[in-house]
Amino acid sequence: GEASMDGYDHYMLKEIYEQPESIRNAMRGRLDDQNATAIFGGLNLTPQQLRSVERIILTGCGTSWHSALVGEYLIEELARIPVNVEYASELRYRNPPIENNTLVFGITQSGETADTLAALNETKRKGHRTLAICNVVASSIAQAADGGVYLHAGPEIGVASTKAYTSQCCVLAMLGLFFGRMRHLSFEGGQRLIEELRRLPNAVQQALTCDEQVKEVAKKYADASTVLYLGRQYNFPTALEGALKLKEISYIHAEGYPAAEMKHGPIALVDDATPSVFIVPQGSTYEKVLANMEEVKARGGPIIAVASHDDAHVEAIADDVIRVPQVQGFLQPIVTVVPLQLLSYHIALLRGCDVDKPRNLAKSVTVE
Ligand code: G6P
Repeated sequence: GEASMDGYDHYMLKEIYEQPESIRNAMRGRLDDQNATAIFGGLNLTPQQLRSVERIILTGCGTSWHSALVGEYLIEELARIPVNVEYASELRYRNPPIENNTLVFGITQSGETADTLAALNETKRKGHRTLAICNVVASSIAQAADGGVYLHAGPEIGVASTKAYTSQCCVLAMLGLFFGRMRHLSFEGGQRLIEELRRLPNAVQQALTCDEQVKEVAKKYADASTVLYLGRQYNFPTALEGALKLKEISYIHAEGYPAAEMKHGPIALVDDATPSVFIVPQGSTYEKVLANMEEVKARGGPIIAVASHDDAHVEAIADDVIRVPQVQGFLQPIVTVVPLQLLSYHIALLRGCDVDKPRNLAKSVTVE
């Protein structure tokens, strides 16, 4: 049967709040201190096959495609393996040349998305190894793939994906560690990543304390007709995901963009009725994103910023600052997406929308 709401008003809210636990479950038994790496029991590939991987393709749909983008950034950074991200619906018909020693991951909460299943079957037919990163055990995609990694996030009932997304990002981070340790990543480097991963559930717990503040921010912007989401590097996918969450459940038009691309189009949308959400934690492009914020401010655009706890500069520019704990770049998406999930939830409620069952959308899309 379906999981209960446990006293929450909606499944989506419950699932947002479950994230410290679902992330813990994604990591349980998978961090190997002895060897400073990650352990995956179900990849069904030999160490030699794993070491000879020369390219990884990550494919999926919707929110799962966003975690694929996060995966691209972090596998390339941690493991130095070239990664391509493909919409499953495009991959299955695009017929791109795929070299030998390419590993194809289908990322999917439900394991039933028709396009993702077809993309995996199509690449498998051509002789490539396919793996699933999947939440639902024994689902069609889990069975079709040669092997894979389960999220163990528990049932996700809300149509808008929340805890499955953060668990996907977490599994991809552990895969980055795992492949990194088969290549150039040192023992100490692996240990540092494990330490960071272990801090993650508490960081997400802390991020959830912004809920009351986000509720107030939601009141200011519930009538907006367009919202921009802007972030860079690891938080570019966060911008896409924040925008998707808002579209899905509040029916407000939203665009996610890499912050620096703003000047090539979206800035034309900025006016005093069009808020911009900047995801701007500390990191190498922090100052550049501040400059983008100044540009929006100069044009009268309201600004909501998601910033690090100890940030000292954002307050002078943004109208509202939502603070999250500082974590290393590769884990930032898992922490910074939390206030964006809550923002879409509260705005949707204020607009009287059916949060758990938004119009026109299905939890899993089993047709093309
Ligand atoms: C549907 C859902 C989305 C989900 C997407 C992919 O559109 O409404 O929340 O991200 O399918 O689903 P999957 O189960 O493959 O992750």
